[in-house]
Amino acid sequence: MYLSIKEAMKKGSGSVAVRGWVYRVRGSNKMIFLVLRDSTDIIQCVIDKEKVTEEEWKAAEKLLIESSAEVEGTIHEDKRAPTGYEIKVSRMNVVHQAGVFPITKDQSTEFLLDKRHLWLRSRKLTSVMKIRSTVFGAIDEFFRERGFYEVAPPILTPNACEGKMTLFKVKYFDDVAYLTQSWQLYAEALIFSLEKIYCNSPCFRAERSKTSRHLAEFYMAEMEVAWAHLDDVVKYGEELVEFIVKKVLKGNEEELKLLGQDIEKLKKVKAPFPHITYTKALDILKKDGIEIEWGKDLRTIEEDKIMEHFDTPVIVTNYPKDIMAFYKPADPKDPKTALCFDMLAPYGYGELIGGSERDTNIEELKKALKKQGNKPENYDWYLDTRRYGSVPHSGFGLGVERVVSWLCNLDSIKDAIPFPRTMLRKTP
Ligand code: 4AD
Ligand code: MG
Repeated sequence: MYLSIKEAMKKGSGSVAVRGWVYRVRGSNKMIFLVLRDSTDIIQCVIDKEKVTEEEWKAAEKLLIESSAEVEGTIHEDKRAPTGYEIKVSRMNVVHQAGVFPITKDQSTEFLLDKRHLWLRSRKLTSVMKIRSTVFGAIDEFFRERGFYEVAPPILTPNACEGKMTLFKVKYFDDVAYLTQSWQLYAEALIFSLEKIYCNSPCFRAERSKTSRHLAEFYMAEMEVAWAHLDDVVKYGEELVEFIVKKVLKGNEEELKLLGQDIEKLKKVKAPFPHITYTKALDILKKDGIEIEWGKDLRTIEEDKIMEHFDTPVIVTNYPKDIMAFYKPADPKDPKTALCFDMLAPYGYGELIGGSERDTNIEELKKALKKQGNKPENYDWYLDTRRYGSVPHSGFGLGVERVVSWLCNLDSIKDAIPFPRTMLRKTP
């Protein structure tokens, strides 16, 4: 029976059988040191010419990186081995002799993206994908524990949700459709039956930006709650992020270390986070010598500048109403601003969450739609949600790859998803 490399190391002594891919290989005419990798870890295997058949020795001598092999032998602790254990090989079977692997040391980022289907085998990306899996699990657990229903939004949609500028148009029989930018409009229809709902679904935006934070296809974990006001969903957002961080700290300490993440920094992430308004954010910037005219959106550089003052996420509320999506209502206490929030990440990882209360006033909604160049008739189905038993409600969307980038200490959001899609890349 094959054990995973981790299980074999846990066993620590006696005979074991493991299988995987060649991570490293070097040798002499008597001994070959093979480092084998599987999804769980790496282990050094020593092949002694005297202890294997001639056929096995010949096959071992030819092994190249990323060949697949099965190995049997006795395991023992060895402080000099890369992971502290070594297998003395008694039987080896090469399952597939690999060709010369195209990825060697010091390759450019673009080359690694071209060879992404192979580079995913690296320990770095393996660690990121494990953390990503924990994040997905944590999102489900968080919402389900709190009585939310999971729903599936459509990917093909007739309308924009977040502005027409970033829509992906697709041929839809003899018509056109758009890839969804956010499930929100559908969520708003679904709260009338389920009240508390969430989804974690792909979203698409034709963002003409080449930043380290934007993908054309990304996952957004969205939630919507009937009867909820802004404060209620801000609290859910803070608790969700704390919950995700805790799960990753518990389940992925090893991966965090491999990625060079500072675990102590993550331990400081405790809800509630500091709250500031957009207006206060401008004050902070002003003290730093950056003058932003009230009413202008915060750009990446400004968000980063603000976040230099914090080492946990921060909630920014009350952005100017005029620059916000059509569904965000004015705050009655300060009508120039909207009842909305963003959660910004520390250390330059940008906006993790965007959310708001939803306007329930049909006339205001129509006015805002028109102002942004949309035809209210196209949104008539959505406006029905305000015609039959309208209730206050609120929700948010969390950018999953933004969270993964932050937790994994990544230089680019492209490494937070297996096969990134950006303005300049749709392959492999
Ligand atoms: O702030 P956004 O645009 O909000 C919405 O779409 C709302 N309709 C969500 C809701 O209330 N249900 O997007 C939400 C989050 C952002 O905070 C960001 O983390 C992420 O989605 N995001 C992106 N992530 C990667 N690449 C992009 N191009 C992204 N655009 C948004
Ligand atoms: Mg936003």
